[in-house]
Amino acid sequence: MNIDYKQLANKYQTPYYVYDFDYITSQYNELKTAFKARKSLLAYAVKANSNLSVIKHLADLGAGADCVSIGEVKRALKVGVQPYKIIFSGVGKIDSEIKEALELGILMINVESSAELDRVETIAKELGKVARISIRVNPNIDPQTHPYISTGLHENKFGVDIDTAKRMYIQCKNSENLDPTGIHLHIGSQLTQLEPIKESVKIVADLVRNLEALKIDLSFFDVGGGLGIVYDDEKLIDTNEYAQSILECLFGLDITVVCEPGRFLVGNSGVFVSKVLYEKINGEKRFVIVDGAMNDLIRPSLYNAYHKIEVLNDNKEFSDCNLVGPVCESGDFFAKNIELPKTEHNDLVAIYSAGAYCFTMASNYNTRGKVAEIAIENGQDRLIRKRETFEDIIALEEEYLK
Ligand code: LLP
Repeated sequence: MNIDYKQLANKYQTPYYVYDFDYITSQYNELKTAFKARKSLLAYAVKANSNLSVIKHLADLGAGADCVSIGEVKRALKVGVQPYKIIFSGVGKIDSEIKEALELGILMINVESSAELDRVETIAKELGKVARISIRVNPNIDPQTHPYISTGLHENKFGVDIDTAKRMYIQCKNSENLDPTGIHLHIGSQLTQLEPIKESVKIVADLVRNLEALKIDLSFFDVGGGLGIVYDDEKLIDTNEYAQSILECLFGLDITVVCEPGRFLVGNSGVFVSKVLYEKINGEKRFVIVDGAMNDLIRPSLYNAYHKIEVLNDNKEFSDCNLVGPVCESGDFFAKNIELPKTEHNDLVAIYSAGAYCFTMASNYNTRGKVAEIAIENGQDRLIRKRETFEDIIALEEEYLK
């Protein structure tokens, strides 16, 4: 990625996010090709980066969308994702979302509890529709990732156990308003070990075979997302081995593979750029204060996540410091005890691997407007979300002032 951060800072001010769309294309193509031995659908996990232009870029490449709210479903539809490529997941869908999803005719609703299946059945009946159902199975496998982004154990809130899933498929088969269409699993995010994925897919594939014996034939096998990326020096799962081991587990089944990558597609396309405001020393401790903050990029504060950081100056005089933002919280930091060069006012600081779960987790805390987002494609930059103004932030409150 060869991006002139300084020129972008002059043009769009700081802080900003910039995403390399050509990188997203090559990630998409790499994974799609890995699955070429079978019919497959890559349903982009919109939560990773839901900017309309990002979703559209992936939709134009042929991607579907994995959505966790009706808002995400509508984003996907708006930019041309075909309804038959949209999946609606999540443990707590509300009635109005289920109703809308049924009316929009998306590919399938990923159901995560018996109670939810009953709700979907009731709502489908009221609408005189047949709901295409996929059930999220929790294989009770430890994905060996950060506990906050681990989802495949019974102690996590996601999915249902095998026996419950079986009962739910039988309910679907016996219902006029439910169509058992797919099966789903997702054991966690930022996965770097293949073994837990293989084991989980095998468990769920066995269930599919059991269901076939009951004359319940599913069309889609959704392996979820979770492929890890390099933030630091992680050793990654090879995409060909990943696809190959999934396809091996599905041997003999006439089923389309669905995969829901988020981070893998967009994580390393993005860089968050802010500029240095001040340096200060408190006692012994050096702080570098930048104009970006935890409200813009919360992963270090929330998960203690590592993001590679560089000060874009030529200074060779490095020393230990904390890189922090202006928000009034001690938890507002991008890195603690990091070696950074001496900085001047307005030096730029790049925080890498910021394409996934960064802008989408941003907030207006401290009445800070969400920052600008920029795309780079074929060497050309363009704004894909303008910086929020003060007026934007207060717009929904102002009219209620007494
Ligand atoms: N499918 C399902 C059902 C999911 O829950 C997720 C992510 C994905 C797909 C996409 O996973 P990916 O390929 O991006 O790993 N905020 C956290 C990550 C939360 C992930 C939630 N689920 C972070 O910043 O690391």
